Amino acid sequence: MIITVASFKGGVGKSTTAIHLAAFFAKKGKTVLIDGDLNRSALDWAQRGKAPFQVIDETDLDQMGEVKHTVIDTPARPSDADLTALARSSDLLVIPTMTDAFSIVAMVKTVNVLTSLPKGRYKILLTVCPPAPSKEAEKARNALTEVGLPLFKTNVSRLAAFQKSALEGVPVYQVKDARSQQAWADYAAVGKEIWDGRSK
Ligand SMILES: Nc1ncnc2c1ncn2[C@@H]1O[C@H](COP(=O)(O)OP(=O)(O)OP(=O)(O)O)[C@@H](O)[C@H]1O
Ligand SMILES: [Mg+2]
Repeated sequence: MIITVASFKGGVGKSTTAIHLAAFFAKKGKTVLIDGDLNRSALDWAQRGKAPFQVIDETDLDQMGEVKHTVIDTPARPSDADLTALARSSDLLVIPTMTDAFSIVAMVKTVNVLTSLPKGRYKILLTVCPPAPSKEAEKARNALTEVGLPLFKTNVSRLAAFQKSALEGVPVYQVKDARSQQAWADYAAVGKEIWDGRSK
């Protein structure tokens, strides 16, 4: 499968999502994460620790051997044309968004660019969701569902374990933190939604 993670807004968890979806798919078959962002966050991350999959620079695609699954991390604010092209060349475009009003408005702009795509080609992921008693994630989900946007069933919670994972260069399930397994369970559930929904 080819999965691309993209959004117009920066800092919404694209790289974190790309890394953890690659970690999920690495358990299914040989997986490569292509870092298509000039910040090279995923490459830096992999150099800090030990990734269970290969991370390569988008300019070094010749180094990519035979792989089963490809996850592509992208820079924020792609052009409309780039976003559409990315979506067309992927099995699925994952669009992470935080749940605050500004992020949701930016995300809806992203999605409006994609209306020409076949249904099921992109899916919105609510990330960095504040814990209860906050109702923010629930409100965002209700509002997006009401306007008929395709959403993952799973929300990714806001957990410090993800920041530790970024610092240590390992997937969140390897982080020493009381909530590291809870953090991994979120992305594992997102990965499972993708896996179960793939065209066979
Ligand atoms: N679920 C989460 N809970 C807590 N912190 C998170 C979560 N997801 C991401 N973060 C943190 O938020 C910050 C931004 O995440 P990330 O780098 O994945 O976003 P991005 O969309 O790739 O940003 P950019 O647009 O700069 O590439 C990082 O410090 C990351 O560790
Ligand atoms: Mg990033």
